[in-house]
Amino acid sequence: MGKTNNFFSQCAHPQGRMGRLMLLFMNHGHASLTNWGLSFANIRDGMTMLDIGCGGGATLKRLLKRSRNGKAFGIDISEESVAKAREVNRSLLDKQVFVQQGSANKLPYQNGQFDLVTAVETVYFWPDLPNCLQEVRRVLKPGGQFVIMVEVLDSDSKWTDIVKGMTAYPPEQLMKMLDDAGFVNTAVHRKKPSYAAILGVNP
Ligand SMILES: C[S@@+](CC[C@H](N)C(=O)[O-])C[C@H]1O[C@@H](n2cnc3c(N)ncnc32)[C@H](O)[C@@H]1O
Repeated sequence: MGKTNNFFSQCAHPQGRMGRLMLLFMNHGHASLTNWGLSFANIRDGMTMLDIGCGGGATLKRLLKRSRNGKAFGIDISEESVAKAREVNRSLLDKQVFVQQGSANKLPYQNGQFDLVTAVETVYFWPDLPNCLQEVRRVLKPGGQFVIMVEVLDSDSKWTDIVKGMTAYPPEQLMKMLDDAGFVNTAVHRKKPSYAAILGVNP
């Protein structure tokens, strides 16, 4: 694998020096997709929110910017991501921001804990996605919202060839998976060149 491909493969599970570089890159590079995607969520003050696959923690900041006195929880499978997310949010750490290591398929949270769950550029890597979606439903309150944001759609071979273990899901397939998992009011929003936000509500 060439150096460039090796760098991009870090986005699946950032590790070491290259992983830290990738986290910086993603914190900035995903701003536009994330700000656009969050515009479809109904975010109010005082909400308890969870960002799964939180990477370098920029989404946690963006969530709290939209919810005064809210709480933002982050979880990521990568130790490097957890460290970076904690560093980026250090002024609010353990007061309004809580970050821990773990996986989307076994969320270490209570039933009905969250008003909103987000997943930015991460569902590509989740093992057994239908089971993860059940986990998301389990931790959402009744009426809680889930927003998936992706920009690798369809079988975009450029990315799926470079990044090992990456699955590109068409947005309509993700919406169907949300329907099958029992989410309601599901919807897909798209923006050129390839942004997609897929939404669902826990009944
Ligand atoms: C492309 S990065 C996106 C990071 C961040 N959401 C952002 O927008 O900058 C994907 C992240 O998902 C994490 N990830 C991969 N598999 C995961 C899993 N099963 N559970 C939780 N996080 C996971 C990776 O460690 C990585 O930090």
